[in-house]
Amino acid sequence: MAFETILVERHERVGLIRLNRPKVLNALNSDLIGELNVVLDAFEADADIGCIVITGSDKAFAAGADITEMHALTYPESYDNDFITSWERLSRVRKPVIAAVAGFALGGGCELAMMCDFILAADTAKFGQPEIKLGVMPGAGGTQRLTRFVGKSKAMEMCLSGRLMGAAEAERAGLVSRVVPAADLVSEALAVAKTIADMSPTVAMQTKESVNRSYETTLAEGIRFERRVFQAMFALEHQKEGMRAFMEKRPPNFRR
Ligand code: HXC
Repeated sequence: MAFETILVERHERVGLIRLNRPKVLNALNSDLIGELNVVLDAFEADADIGCIVITGSDKAFAAGADITEMHALTYPESYDNDFITSWERLSRVRKPVIAAVAGFALGGGCELAMMCDFILAADTAKFGQPEIKLGVMPGAGGTQRLTRFVGKSKAMEMCLSGRLMGAAEAERAGLVSRVVPAADLVSEALAVAKTIADMSPTVAMQTKESVNRSYETTLAEGIRFERRVFQAMFALEHQKEGMRAFMEKRPPNFRR
């Protein structure tokens, strides 16, 4: 598949998507979101893909929604076409998705990264929700996901002032899983993605669904959901293989 705004690679069982509008720091326009969604659909349907990585360039993961495309939008157009809803395909992917962020992840770029299951950051990463400087507020989850990840005080300061947060602060605040040297970002992301892709795909998806459930429900209901899914895992051949392999002192083979 050939695309205009993204580059797509396969590394064994890992699908790598590079956002690729270098002249505009990967500003997210409707073409890019459309192409991203096509590839997400394809990877989701492909049994040979066990994990997905989304990254940008050294300078920018994405500097936000494309302001030149968005600036003349009217309210009826925005409402009637349900502007931004198409971006949410990423948050509905069932397979694990990692954001590998170097440089700017601003506005919709930060929101896109937060739709992934975790964010691996280069030491050059800068996160922010600067929409307020453009006379709008975040519209793809920034006021909601950022608040859950870093807490009200920091999210409120970032959304109200537009202040950017560097990689070290993002790690301290819990926005990113860890920080790696910029030169190693993609290889580190591919390595952890390969580790995940070698697990049981069923169990990886169920684990993702269970962790995500903690954001949607009470603790008691979340624990109940986890328990039922855990119990059902004893119906999986992969549970038998994983535990048998441990006892036989050999690596498990979840590819059968
Ligand atoms: C369109 C953009 C862009 C964007 C950068 N560019 N961000 N074009 N939309 N979001 C373009 C610039 O116009 C410029 O084009 C080129 O990319 C390089 O950017 P520079 O500004 O020259 O680079 P630099 O000086 O390094 O500054 C980098 C920057 C700055 C700090 C990231 O570009 C910036 O502030 N960008 C806007 C960030 C932002 O406000 N994001 C939120 C968007 S609103 P030319 O042609 O001049 O070379 C949003 C809403 C989300 O995301 C709501 C739901 C999705």
